[in-house]
Amino acid sequence: MTSTPKKFAVIGNPIQHSRSPELHTSFAKSTHLNITYDKLFAEIDAFEQTIEHFFHTGGQGLNVTVPFKEHAFQRCDVLTPRATIAKAVNTLWMENQKLYGDNTDGQGLVDAILTLKWPLKDSRILILGAGGATRGVVYPLAMAGAKQIVIANRTLARAEQLIQDVAPALPTTTSLEAIALDQLQGSFDIVINATSASLTGDALNLPATLEFSYAYEMAYGKPSTFLDQAKARAVPTSDGFGMLVGQAIESFYIWNGVKPALKDFI
Ligand code: ATR
Repeated sequence: MTSTPKKFAVIGNPIQHSRSPELHTSFAKSTHLNITYDKLFAEIDAFEQTIEHFFHTGGQGLNVTVPFKEHAFQRCDVLTPRATIAKAVNTLWMENQKLYGDNTDGQGLVDAILTLKWPLKDSRILILGAGGATRGVVYPLAMAGAKQIVIANRTLARAEQLIQDVAPALPTTTSLEAIALDQLQGSFDIVINATSASLTGDALNLPATLEFSYAYEMAYGKPSTFLDQAKARAVPTSDGFGMLVGQAIESFYIWNGVKPALKDFI
């Protein structure tokens, strides 16, 4: 007799483009679990009703994507430390009638970088951008051993504010600094593009005075002037597909207690 499948979904608006169902379906196949994983569209003002209905009708876990991650953060009864720091939730589940929220984006990035065999322990990291994407990854990068994290943003005050917010939660072994995007300089192991500039096609200028050994673009499947410039320097590069798979694996692990190997899916 076959067991009833565990029911999962990703909620967003729009949601049609989401690759989460195919990823989770392949994780389930590789770990021999019986699940369903759907795309769940919610009207902008109907996020809460939609998730309540999902969990009341047997749903076990939800991924949350644009534009609902902050709303999910507000709605949760219990948050993990990394979700609290990120101020955004991408993974939901119920326990004892309470809604739990986590943010797996940062660990997804860490796992993607480690799978590439790029160095994180004692590394110097430059992150371009100070929006939600950066907020989600600073703590996991510090916990993975980064010794220096510099956040460069077009609007310097936003990077300074982000640092003020996250600094108290970070290990004292990680130094944090904010700089303006047009003042890029120094020497780093990894530079990470967390701006949305690649999505709008705007060019980011990486000056010759900026040295780095590896370049990670958080976006994927789009042309990236950031990656073009890094490739011109012949350093190893990656787009954000590994991070996407990494965050999905971490959610799958929270819900199911088994962790598929990232290298098998990229
Ligand atoms: P996300 O949640 O994807 O991080 P966001 O919170 O809107 O989105 O943040 C977008 C980030 O990309 C910000 O750091 C933004 O810089 P500002 O804070 O100065 O707005 C950055 N960004 C967007 N377009 C950019 C561009 N053309 N050049 C440089 N930075 C850009």
